Amino acid sequence: MAGRVRHLEPVQEIERLDPLAPDHPIRLVTKEMADGGEFSPEHSAIMQSIFDSLAESWHTRNVPGRLAALEDVFARAELPAGVLVELGAGTGIGTGVIVRHRPVAAAVDLSAGMLAEAPPGLAPWTRADASCLPFADSSVDVLVLLNMLLFPGEVDRVLASDGAIVWVNTLGEATPIHLSAEDVVHALPGAWRADASRAGGGTWCVVRRAAQRDSRSPSQAEATPPTSVSAR
Ligand SMILES: C[S@@+](CC[C@H](N)C(=O)[O-])C[C@H]1O[C@@H](n2cnc3c(N)ncnc32)[C@H](O)[C@@H]1O
Repeated sequence: MAGRVRHLEPVQEIERLDPLAPDHPIRLVTKEMADGGEFSPEHSAIMQSIFDSLAESWHTRNVPGRLAALEDVFARAELPAGVLVELGAGTGIGTGVIVRHRPVAAAVDLSAGMLAEAPPGLAPWTRADASCLPFADSSVDVLVLLNMLLFPGEVDRVLASDGAIVWVNTLGEATPIHLSAEDVVHALPGAWRADASRAGGGTWCVVRRAAQRDSRSPSQAEATPPTSVSAR
């Protein structure tokens, strides 16, 4: 709802692609969900059908430089320790970068086809709908969304009070599932702050609550950071 975005100098930026038309069907769903719209059974069926059909050829999108923005997050952003979950992990292209930096407690995706193409053993692949995650309240310290829909209420629910959201669009404004850092901060309930930048052709932001409150019980808050997420 409210917050501020600090823009850091871009790194190794290459040519910016033209922004995608705002009426692109995937862009419309992205905006609808960021505005708090319901991810209906129809939305779910359409998404599964699109990504199941793209799954086999998805690896061809992994061109050099595609993951520069995600790499830049790990190089320059400060992330809290603890449980990291990736949402919309797909075939695990981004997951391969994340696990080089820290363990992934769950790599979630809705599309069985995309998950079938993911390298076995790279991460705990989890077929689930990110609009109703099978995780307890405040149980995740870092949520990574790489070209993935934002479900603001659900992200707010599962994220620990001092947690961080990593939002990456690998083609910047030309990414079909794109939101600016300002859009992400505005979409989330309550007050948030973000650091944002660009690297390669991509954009990223790391978003945290502006006034961090600790909603966990004192015993949970003092406990050693968990290494896995708990089901609700
Ligand atoms: C554009 S792809 C990105 C995949 C991967 N992050 C990448 O960049 O290569 C979006 C992914 O989000 C998944 N997805 C869409 N809606 C979802 C939902 N409600 N819950 C979980 N995953 C979802 C799709 O199945 C797809 O794999």
